[in-house]
Amino acid sequence: MAEFVNRREFLRQSFAFSALAIGVGSLPALAAAPNKGATHVFLIGDWGWEGDLAGQRSTAQAAIQYAATHRIAPEAFFMLGDSWYGQMPGGVDDPRWKVQFEDMYPKSSFDCPFYSIMGNHDYQKMPANVVKTEMELAYAKRHGTRWTQPALYYTFDFPAKNPLIHVIALDSNVDPGHGHLGASFVMSAEQQATQLKWLAAELDKPPTAPFTVVMGHHPIFSNGPHGDHKVLIAEWEPLLRQHQVDFYLAGHDHDLQHLEFEGHPTSFVCSGAGGADLYDLKIPEAERGPFAEKVYGFTHMELTPEKVTMRHIAADGKVIHAFSRAKGGQIVLS
Ligand SMILES: [Fe+2]
Repeated sequence: MAEFVNRREFLRQSFAFSALAIGVGSLPALAAAPNKGATHVFLIGDWGWEGDLAGQRSTAQAAIQYAATHRIAPEAFFMLGDSWYGQMPGGVDDPRWKVQFEDMYPKSSFDCPFYSIMGNHDYQKMPANVVKTEMELAYAKRHGTRWTQPALYYTFDFPAKNPLIHVIALDSNVDPGHGHLGASFVMSAEQQATQLKWLAAELDKPPTAPFTVVMGHHPIFSNGPHGDHKVLIAEWEPLLRQHQVDFYLAGHDHDLQHLEFEGHPTSFVCSGAGGADLYDLKIPEAERGPFAEKVYGFTHMELTPEKVTMRHIAADGKVIHAFSRAKGGQIVLS
């Protein structure tokens, strides 16, 4: 099991392994505006709330405003699951698709693919004749939509030309106890085993990009109420470690987090604050971090061949946490 690393210990550790970290606390490169010459991706999780859409609207508006203010055009969104809470009686024709996806993240601001993965709420059948997972895969086949999900789990290089990240998008609905929705709303044991074998085979392939990103809806480690995930720790975490995966991206806990563990090659980022009701954190960032905050927002991932910079952006537009990860694993906090 990985050791907990609090912010102070993390900074000390950073000093030890990276000369770049000497400027921690006053890093103009991270505090400054985004690099317009880089490739930009926005991450949003747990966004498709049913009912009061104030949280979703505030986060979507913040993303629109942030892109406009910094004159950056994201070339992709990664939608980290729990896309549709509640009822979707119209299936692919349900008006919620237009209101909460096509119009909420308008093409006029974001003319790019929205790569999506399944959350636990996407596994619900609501109403009983609408299997939301099948609905989402079907919607991706519609002409003209930016919604992109070719399968329950899939892989892609991004950008397609001269890729900077190799992305492995997973279905993390493996544990009936973890989503609080019961055994009917998870993949089968056979699907789980097949995916695990596929993941190991994918990670065994030679790298096609400077950085490797794995994403699944459920965090492997989380300071939020869902906590650490015993099945994913047993099945996925050793593979991330073995293959030196750079980032594991997740949602599910309705907050923004960045966790590092001593000696672990992977940075763990949770961006689950896109619209659903926020959760109280269970572990403060001072205890395990370097960052965890209960706040609506999204995450900006800035890619260059040399480094990936992650910024958590609150719904008021402020950058509340940022760090960069260089090729080779050196991490610099802002
Ligand atoms: Fe979830």
